[in-house]
Amino acid sequence: MEIRPFDNGCGAEIGGVDLQSMSDEEVEAIADAHAAYGVVFLRGQTLTPGDQLAVARRFGPINVNRFFTPVPGHPEVAMVLKEPHHQYNIGGGWHTDHSYDQAPALGSMLFALDVPSAGGDTMFASMYKAYEALSPGLRRTLEGLRAVHSSRHVFGKGAYAKQDDDRYHNAGQATQDAVHPVVIRHPRTGRPALYVNPAFTRRIAGWTEDESRPLLEHLYDVAAREDHTCRFRWEVGSVAFWDNRATWHHALNDYPGERRLMHRVTVEGESLSPYLTEN
Ligand code: SIN
Repeated sequence: MEIRPFDNGCGAEIGGVDLQSMSDEEVEAIADAHAAYGVVFLRGQTLTPGDQLAVARRFGPINVNRFFTPVPGHPEVAMVLKEPHHQYNIGGGWHTDHSYDQAPALGSMLFALDVPSAGGDTMFASMYKAYEALSPGLRRTLEGLRAVHSSRHVFGKGAYAKQDDDRYHNAGQATQDAVHPVVIRHPRTGRPALYVNPAFTRRIAGWTEDESRPLLEHLYDVAAREDHTCRFRWEVGSVAFWDNRATWHHALNDYPGERRLMHRVTVEGESLSPYLTEN
């Protein structure tokens, strides 16, 4: 197995491994690279939904996504689909998965089944690099702060994940709000990472939304700087496995009239409260 980190430290390509026949040592090496670089990419894999679940379970228990329509017969495998007639894609803005949960997902594993002839890449941003780009003074201000995250405005009734769109369901279950540290010490690497995102973070805990907005927008501007990001061009059989505690991602919607189908399995995480950074 060969692990090739990208130059800026966001993302790594892994070659020479068949996910279905990994040794325990290879699982550990992939888990280390996943945490260190935030996302790992593999090509040329062949995975049925059952195979993908078995692979993901090597990294932890499965977290069932409540809002994406699952693959028929596989409630733990979410469909990430855009048909030619769809205008919007799933995940088409910077976010990190499940930050609205009390114990946010550790990682998400996306497998490509159908890709457009051009476009449909996914961008990733390193939250380690975002944190490191802040001034020492702002870092000190953020340490000890918490933020409120929610699913209501994204997946709830009347939210932009429209209820007449059969790619989403269970709007009535979008009741999760959670409070997490604004900066975490990553559970595996111990490295500080920014843990707020434009999709699900509503405000700094104890502050109003109006008070929170200028600070959050500044953090989002820094986080999305080009030198903090990497971009993955999909092929059928590609896998991206990202760490939701160390990255954001953004699925580009630049392939009108074409189909893109991915299967996503989410790996359970843990409460981030013990990983608060304190000054
Ligand atoms: C997602 O946000 O989980 C989807 C990412 C993608 O389709 O590239």
